[in-house]
Amino acid sequence: MSDIIEDELFSSSVIKDLHALDFDYVPEELPHRTEQLRRLAQMFKPLLNDVSQNAVVRGPVGTGKTVIIKKFCNSFVNIARKQGKIIEYVHINCRKRSTDAMVLIGILNHFDQRFPDRGFSVQEMLQILHKQLQRRDAQLLLVLDEADALLKKSGSNLVYNLTRFTDETMKTDNPISIIMVSQKDVLSDLDLSALSTFKRSNTIILDKYARDELYDIIDQRVGLAFHNHTVSLDSVDLIADIASEWGDARFAIELLWKAGMCADQQHVQLVVPEHVRAAKAETYSVVTETKLENLGKHQLLTLLSIAKRLHRDGAAYANTGDVEKTYAITCEEYNEKPRAHTMFWSYLKEVENAGFIHIKLSGKGQLGTTQLISLPDIPVEILVDKLDGFLR
Ligand SMILES: Nc1ncnc2c1ncn2[C@@H]1O[C@H](COP(=O)(O)OP(=O)(O)OP(=O)(O)O)[C@@H](O)[C@H]1O
Ligand SMILES: [Mg+2]
Repeated sequence: MSDIIEDELFSSSVIKDLHALDFDYVPEELPHRTEQLRRLAQMFKPLLNDVSQNAVVRGPVGTGKTVIIKKFCNSFVNIARKQGKIIEYVHINCRKRSTDAMVLIGILNHFDQRFPDRGFSVQEMLQILHKQLQRRDAQLLLVLDEADALLKKSGSNLVYNLTRFTDETMKTDNPISIIMVSQKDVLSDLDLSALSTFKRSNTIILDKYARDELYDIIDQRVGLAFHNHTVSLDSVDLIADIASEWGDARFAIELLWKAGMCADQQHVQLVVPEHVRAAKAETYSVVTETKLENLGKHQLLTLLSIAKRLHRDGAAYANTGDVEKTYAITCEEYNEKPRAHTMFWSYLKEVENAGFIHIKLSGKGQLGTTQLISLPDIPVEILVDKLDGFLR
């Protein structure tokens, strides 16, 4: 019995470094993001003269927002240190810390790991932060990753307080710079006072990766994570093809990782397309699940209406008018009040941005500007089940 276990534990693997397949692993080079790194450097150059800057980084899921910011901030801090500038870089995930107090505690933990989870008001924490920066003669470079979660739950007070705080303390050499990262357009969520202290012009938009870009990203990961000659070239091709429908590098890397696991399970030394196909079948569920967690209730109801419509009609496309009717009925089923037409449209857009659906204009033979929705990747039956689970 223990032989079997020992066999499995010490059997050889195609993977040489599992860590390089982690989602928070930051590779040395970021293929196809050089231009954006350059722009970030231009934007944040004034920090070297103690002048703060703010920026927004936006783009769909898996387009490298988080990794590019981590890469940039870490390098920037190191370069600045050589110039005698102390910049404290703090990266907060607002999906995990979605109130002003939780964000501030996260920031203060960077300076003092034992900073208590409770006992201080937001105003007090802002003052403590200020003192920490003064004591170190440092600036703060704060990244609010998935910032929409904070703005949605707590509004833009914190952003306002932190940016205004900088205005007032300009002279004291402890400026605070903020980078907001999100799939959504967060500037439209800031109230006017916060917006006026947050510079509008510094926005970097990351587009979905094209097929060949994904190929290069996967090719790089193969080199970092796998033993030589253990992944066939057509496997890399297939992963790039599959992932290009979403333009999502995370999904591509997950496919690579799972395909490697599949090869290991079969005790073979080469990852081949069949392993990629098996990985794909398994991966949708995981990817789908995390993406669904990011959608709001009415976005889920909208997606469910699309899936139901397609299921009922057995068709490849559903038109938006029909889906909106189904949406009204679906809302009733889940005791929600259907939202107005314009809101419904914005939900559709968000569901599209999250990568679940494709929307195209109807071709000839149909009146007006009907749009056709398709759901290319997930079997509708599975999706209906999952969504029902999520909504209940
Ligand atoms: N240009 C790139 N080169 C190498 N790896 C990349 C590149 N872009 C993204 N990745 C990898 O793809 C994965 C997803 O990237 P990242 O987490 O930065 O996406 P994101 O845009 O922040 O997505 P989300 O909106 O879901 O937070 C990570 O493992 C990251 O290392
Ligand atoms: Mg991210």
